[in-house]
Amino acid sequence: WNWRSVHLLSAVSVLVLLFVHLLCHARRYIRGRKFFIALGAAFVLATVGIFGLPYLDRWFHQVKVEKETIIQGEKIQVSGRVLTVYFSRVGNTDFPPGVDAVSGASIMKDKETLIGNAEMIAAMIHDAAGGDIYAIRTKEKYPADYGATTRVGRKELDENLAPALVGPLPELADYDVVFVVYPLWWHTLPMAVQGFLEHYDLHGKSIVPVVTHGGGGISESIEKIKETTGAHLPGEILDIYSSDIPSARQDIAAYLKRMKLD
Ligand SMILES: Cc1cc2nc3c(=O)[nH]c(=O)nc-3n(C[C@H](O)[C@H](O)[C@H](O)COP(=O)(O)O)c2cc1C
Repeated sequence: WNWRSVHLLSAVSVLVLLFVHLLCHARRYIRGRKFFIALGAAFVLATVGIFGLPYLDRWFHQVKVEKETIIQGEKIQVSGRVLTVYFSRVGNTDFPPGVDAVSGASIMKDKETLIGNAEMIAAMIHDAAGGDIYAIRTKEKYPADYGATTRVGRKELDENLAPALVGPLPELADYDVVFVVYPLWWHTLPMAVQGFLEHYDLHGKSIVPVVTHGGGGISESIEKIKETTGAHLPGEILDIYSSDIPSARQDIAAYLKRMKLD
């Protein structure tokens, strides 16, 4: 619960009340079959308006942020050495020079710099918990076109082929707490992240996955990490919907506190 959700709920409630109110009046003038056709059309329009337009907006609109401002917040005491690893589409893609031409699920921009969703979450965790931060980079970049990237991601998954990574990779054994932040790709984790994790012997090692997604939540990604790495994962996994990232700093601090890592 925050002001944004109160605002959203009030707006939807007022729309629904208005809709019911208009229907009560319309019943007097439109009768029989026509009334039900009008009712159906109004329902479809309302659904598209409430859910469809924000979706389109999220897809094409670049969210303007001030990274240094939004990543800062409450510091959480975490004992031991902390590493935050992340993988984002931004940083692994050669985007054309005009970043306004870039589309995709809610890309963030600070002045002229694009910021990936997982990258922003990782920066927030890093600000809250301290320690080191590491970006997973693939040797070959993904296509600038969002749809093309989804197809490459699908192919990697179907062929169970992890892309080659830029080294050197960090020494996970040097750390007590390892956060792994990744975007959900095709209901699971990207093969680049899978390949990164498989580089290590993680049996019994604790890692803390954090997932960002376009509505799919953690989906099958956590089960896959468990099965393929044997790592020990926390009971509660934090997943952050892409549009909620700019305001996620407090949720991240609250999650870290619940984890009791001090
Ligand atoms: C190849 C690909 C596949 C995706 N598959 C899913 C999916 O199955 N479910 C979902 O909710 N979001 C999916 N998304 C959306 C991303 O998870 C979401 O936009 C995420 O916040 C992007 O993070 P990033 O900017 O760090 O790459 C996909 C995105 C890409 C590029």
